[in-house]
Amino acid sequence: MERRTNSPYPRLDRPVLAIVGLLLVLSTVLFTRGDREHEWRYYQWDFKRVVGEKLGAAKAHSVPTGLQQIWVPALGHADRCTTCHQAVQWAGFESAEEPFRTHPKEILRSHPVETFGCTSCHGGQGWAVDVDPAHGPVEHWEEPVLGQSLGDTYSIVDNKRALMQMNCNVCHRYDRETKGADFINLAKQLVQEKGCRACHTINGRGGTIGPDLTYAGDKAPEQYDFSRLNGQKTAYAWHVAHLKEPKALSPDTVMPNFNFSTKEAQALAMLIMSWRRSPVPAQFVAGVPRTDRQTPEEIAAEQRMKTGPGAWFVSTGCFVCHSIKVFGVTSPAQIGPDLSNAVEDVQSRFGRTIDDFLASPTGTMSVVLSRQIILTPQQKQIAIGKLREAFAEYQKQKAAATKAAPSH
Ligand code: HEC
Ligand code: HEC
Ligand code: HEC
Ligand code: HEC
Ligand code: HEC
Repeated sequence: MERRTNSPYPRLDRPVLAIVGLLLVLSTVLFTRGDREHEWRYYQWDFKRVVGEKLGAAKAHSVPTGLQQIWVPALGHADRCTTCHQAVQWAGFESAEEPFRTHPKEILRSHPVETFGCTSCHGGQGWAVDVDPAHGPVEHWEEPVLGQSLGDTYSIVDNKRALMQMNCNVCHRYDRETKGADFINLAKQLVQEKGCRACHTINGRGGTIGPDLTYAGDKAPEQYDFSRLNGQKTAYAWHVAHLKEPKALSPDTVMPNFNFSTKEAQALAMLIMSWRRSPVPAQFVAGVPRTDRQTPEEIAAEQRMKTGPGAWFVSTGCFVCHSIKVFGVTSPAQIGPDLSNAVEDVQSRFGRTIDDFLASPTGTMSVVLSRQIILTPQQKQIAIGKLREAFAEYQKQKAAATKAAPSH
């Protein structure tokens, strides 16, 4: 039989093939192992080194190795952040570089990591053990770590780390004030002062002129109309822009421009986005009862006004937006003008009688009277009567005032 090979080294054929095969197998094995060599192994190695330098070899030996995980069944979280952030509960690393810094202690005293994990406050993807997937931003993913880098992206004023407070307020929404959540506290104060509830229901209380905001944070990004928004097209950016100038994004809106500063608008946007249908079980929600309470002073003030000469305006709900000073009624929000002299003011502003204005109102009042306070023709007559009573009182007080100070 003729020999088929023309190899110059016929005897070496098989060993060479065998070696090539072996190399292939070996590289496959190395490649697969390399793929599993995550960044976290490097950080664990480095942490051991740092501990060794600082606290000695024995201590370094006690550093746990391998994947670390905090499993919080009640929240459904398996947070592996401590795989890299190993110093969270170590003393002595308060000024180390991340990820090896001791965690601020006070907040963990009231929220032990064993019960709260990490992502309930920080956001991020708990199960991920590489930096980018754990922190974000990653495409198609809405839960990045709410830390400094996202704060930079959103140009948060004064405190780049403030975004995390959105997560604080998922559990603390019924607090009037939460220590350590200054942006949220500012926003809650503004909601009270500016009277957003005149038009919006929040936590079951308020008006119906604007949408119910109780779960406004659940609105999906696809549900926003970004067509009038410049710059970043995110829900957060939309809210900041809308709060600063509602008409710029919703041209037909009756929501007033409150002249918010950037910080105020950012704080309110955080508060709004924290209003999510509770993703945490009831025992994690601080504050009982689970509703926004009016303070005793607010309730007392309302009671007082309800029994005075301006009672009709209070019980009908006009006082939510209007003061009627001559009757001692002070609106908490003062979104509309004082109605004491409306009879005259409507005439001079719109060139219409008050009867005419209430019969076919314009602007905010057309929305109020069609969506929030529905008055029958008879009730409108009562309203006109009350407004005339107020105006009579207004003229009386004015006359008395000029008489009392004739020399002016
Ligand atoms: C109850 C809420 C809460 C929990 C739970 C929590 N943290 Fe924090 N964390 C905070 C607060 C508050 C700060 C301080 C932020 C600041 O200085 O503005 C902080 C700071 C940090 C920082 C430093 C951030 C920076 O910008 O310098 C890291 C890293 C960190 N936490 C990681 C973790 C890890 C890992 C866990 C889980 C083991 C965890 N945290 C659990 C609230 C929490
Ligand atoms: C693979 C290692 C690794 C994992 C896993 C990891 N981190 Fe980090 N983390 C780092 C490193 C490195 C830094 C410092 C450099 C940086 O900011 O990217 C850091 C910084 C941070 C900071 C401060 C930076 C900022 O933007 O405010 C926070 C907060 C933080 N991590 C939270 C978390 C949370 C929460 C998790 C779990 C979901 C987590 N990390 C998981 C490595 C990790
Ligand atoms: C997963 C839910 C949850 C998150 C997230 C959360 N908290 Fe809390 N927090 C609680 C609960 C529950 C309590 C205990 C309240 C009680 O006893 O009424 C509490 C207590 C507190 C207290 C009172 C502690 C004391 O010493 O009396 C403060 C202040 C506080 N949280 C601030 C924060 C801040 C700031 C954040 C965000 C960085 C935050 N919390 C995130 C659930 C949460
Ligand atoms: C005079 C009535 C009125 C007042 C007061 C008012 N709003 Fe509005 N708001 C509206 C109306 C109407 C809309 C719907 C049209 C639009 O998007 O502007 C709206 C929309 C919104 C939206 C968007 C909701 C969504 O899902 O699209 C938010 C958020 C909001 N208001 C927050 C506030 C806050 C915060 C305050 C108090 C600082 C406030 N509003 C005060 C009338 C009002
Ligand atoms: C949600 C807030 C809101 C409520 C509730 C409300 N108003 Fe108004 N009202 C306004 C605003 C804002 C204006 C200013 C007109 C404008 O800019 O469209 C106004 C204007 C008026 C005016 C014209 C005043 C003037 O001086 O020009 C009258 C009259 C009036 N409202 C009566 C009432 C009465 C009566 C009620 C109760 C039945 C009522 N309003 C309830 C917001 C409200």
